[in-house]
Amino acid sequence: MEEFARLFIELIEASRSHEHYRDVECINLIASEGLKSPAVREIMQFCMDLESRYSEGENDLQGRVKARYYQGQKYITIIENCAVDIVKNLFNCNWADVRLVSGTHANLSTFKGISMATRNRKMVVAPLSSGAHISHDYTGLAGQVLGLEIINLIYDVNELNIDVEKSIHIIRAARPGIVTLGASLFLFPHPIRELKEVTEEVGAYLVYDAAHVLGLIAGGVFQDPLREGADFVTASTHKTFPGPQGGLILGELKNSRMESAIKAVQHAVFPLSASNVHLARLPAVGVASLEMKLFGRELAEQTVRNAQTAGQYLYEHGVKVLGEDKGFTRSHQLAVDVREWGGGKRVAEDLEKANIILNRNLLPYDNQNNRENPSGIRIGFQDVTRRGFRESDIKHLCDLMLDVIKYKRKPEEVKKDVIELKKQFNKVEYGFKSVEEALKHLQKYVKVC
Ligand SMILES: Cc1ncc(COP(=O)(O)O)c(C=O)c1O
Repeated sequence: MEEFARLFIELIEASRSHEHYRDVECINLIASEGLKSPAVREIMQFCMDLESRYSEGENDLQGRVKARYYQGQKYITIIENCAVDIVKNLFNCNWADVRLVSGTHANLSTFKGISMATRNRKMVVAPLSSGAHISHDYTGLAGQVLGLEIINLIYDVNELNIDVEKSIHIIRAARPGIVTLGASLFLFPHPIRELKEVTEEVGAYLVYDAAHVLGLIAGGVFQDPLREGADFVTASTHKTFPGPQGGLILGELKNSRMESAIKAVQHAVFPLSASNVHLARLPAVGVASLEMKLFGRELAEQTVRNAQTAGQYLYEHGVKVLGEDKGFTRSHQLAVDVREWGGGKRVAEDLEKANIILNRNLLPYDNQNNRENPSGIRIGFQDVTRRGFRESDIKHLCDLMLDVIKYKRKPEEVKKDVIELKKQFNKVEYGFKSVEEALKHLQKYVKVC
């Protein structure tokens, strides 16, 4: 019991310390992490009974509840239906599935469903080295779990994007059932329109993984995958989209071809890959969706502006930011080559000592086995933007980063300034302070009881 007690105390202390460390003392620049508003946090704490419940069953072709195999679903069915209808409204589509517990789960169900519908086990996707996610790859979920044969698109390192002409040839030759676009290192919109025709020609479905950029899409920037020709959009709900950790799939039911794929994807969600779908996140998805409907454009535009401002500033101060001839980025991210300053490992670790948190990252031209010390770092601006950083604050933050990157000051010294800077940004903007405030805001549209 003594060992148990020691471990328990350590667990509680670390949990408390973590909240203070990352939320209060650090500046977060991890590109895959979101920031929830107080209203989203409040509804998550409020849903503790829902957190214990199940609702296994089938959905209809609007993504709404069709059949459930548990009792006690009186309100759960309303919650599920409202969440799915809110998401469809926000992303302007007529089908969605919100039962996915993560972006990886969304990819699993989508890839599995489409490969069942097409009876084709080939998927064409951007190479891992170009920033694709491990779940797309032969070495990850797609290859090792689903047994898909993975064929890579051609990536143009200079353009930092998929080479359209060469990739058309690859798709035509491979005749896959799925073409997947979207990435984890994602600076510029992918060529959906340009690859749509050949994808259709070979009878494949076009999947767009919006895990990173869902919040930008909700805000009407970066790109609009469904309008550009994607058949399915898969995503996380907790990166630039500032909701609870979870996933979703979007699509447009416009013909019998989509109907058979949607049915197969839904089957891949339940019964094939989910039992408990973490229901308690659904009200929070609704609150985050409302915030994006109201403030999403402003938030997305400022996020991209902040990323571009940092790109320009770091570049002008002698750091090699990728994509300088294209304005550095059109998303929330920057990719920076820091070989000259000791490499990705040294820079990320020293910034961490200064309480600036980001990740080392392989760049497209790196030896892809060199995960330990890649050339790059990836910087994401969605968190600081939501905390209220504007261009001048971003430049100030960049100065602190430059002090560390260029060995001008010891990280421990810079840390004091980082903590001071963070103190000035202790609110979350572009969202609601409480659920009550969100409801009050809606009073002008409908009668709120
Ligand atoms: C492009 C892409 N797809 C999928 C995922 C997986 O998302 P999740 O962490 O929600 O499983 C990620 C994670 O960062 C990603 O970058």
